[in-house]
Amino acid sequence: MVIQMRMILLGKPGGGKGTQATLLKEHLDVPQISTGDILREAVKNGTPLGKEAKNYMDAGKLVPDDLIRGLVEERLSQDDIGKGFIFDGFPRTLAQAEGLKKIADKLGISIDKAVYIDVPTDKIVKRLSGRRSCACGAVYHIESKRPKIEGVCDACSGKLYQRDDDKEDVIKQRIEQYEAQTMPLIDYYRKEGKLVTIDGDQDIDEVFNDIKRGLGI
Ligand code: AP5
Repeated sequence: MVIQMRMILLGKPGGGKGTQATLLKEHLDVPQISTGDILREAVKNGTPLGKEAKNYMDAGKLVPDDLIRGLVEERLSQDDIGKGFIFDGFPRTLAQAEGLKKIADKLGISIDKAVYIDVPTDKIVKRLSGRRSCACGAVYHIESKRPKIEGVCDACSGKLYQRDDDKEDVIKQRIEQYEAQTMPLIDYYRKEGKLVTIDGDQDIDEVFNDIKRGLGI
C-alpha cells in the first residue's frame, strides 16, 4: 500500500524533529526537507544564500522569510515529492505558513498534517549540548543515542561534530525565537484541523510509535 503524506514537523529546537523525520522518511519512503540542513550546506559551500544566512544562524535568529520561501519553492519543484514529503524546521513563522499555502496552491497540493512534538523547555539544553551530528544528516546524542564507535557515524563512518549553534547562549536565543515566532503555528494548524500533538518527552522509539499512531500510518 502506498501512503501519500505531506507533513510538517513542529517543535522546539532540539525537540526531536530531525530524529523523527529520519525515521518517518524511511517508513513512508518520502523525502525529508530540512531547511536547517539546506542552509547549513549553503553555508559550508559559501553560496550567496549561505553567506546571507550565516550571521542569523550563528546568532540563533531566524533567517528572513523571503530567503526561506525561495529555497522551499525551489525544493518543492523537484521531481521526488510525488508521494509526499516531510518538512523538518519549516514553516517557522506565520508568514512562512501563509507562503507555503500559496506555493502548495500553485502546485495543486495541500498539507495533510502538522505534527507538534511537545518537549518541556528544561530538557532542551541537555539534548542540544549533548547532540553530535554527521554531515550525512544522521544525529546522535552522547547519552540517549550513542553511535557504535564514539565520534563516528554508524551510517556513513563520517566524523561526528558539534553544531556551532548548540552552545548554551545561542540555544537560549533559539528558544526565545521559537516562543515568539514559531509557537503561534500550533494554533494556526489546530484551527486548520491538521494538528497532531505528540508527547516528545519519551524514548525516541515511543515518540515514533505515537506519531505513527497519530497519523494512522
Ligand atoms: P534547524 O536545523 O532547523 O534547528 P532547530 O529547529 O533548532 O532544530 P534542531 O535541528 O536543533 O533540533 P531537532 O528538533 O531536529 O532535534 P534533533 O532530532 O536533532 O535550524 C537551525 C537554524 O537555521 C535556525 O536557528 C535558523 O537560523 C535557521 N533556519 C532553519 N529553518 C529555518 C526557517 N524555516 N526559517 C528561518 N530560519 C530557519 O534532537 C536533538 C538531540 O536530542 C539529538 O542529540 C537527539 O539524538 C536527541 N533526541 C531526540 N529525540 C530524543 C528523545 N525522544 N529522547 C532523548 N533524546 C532525544
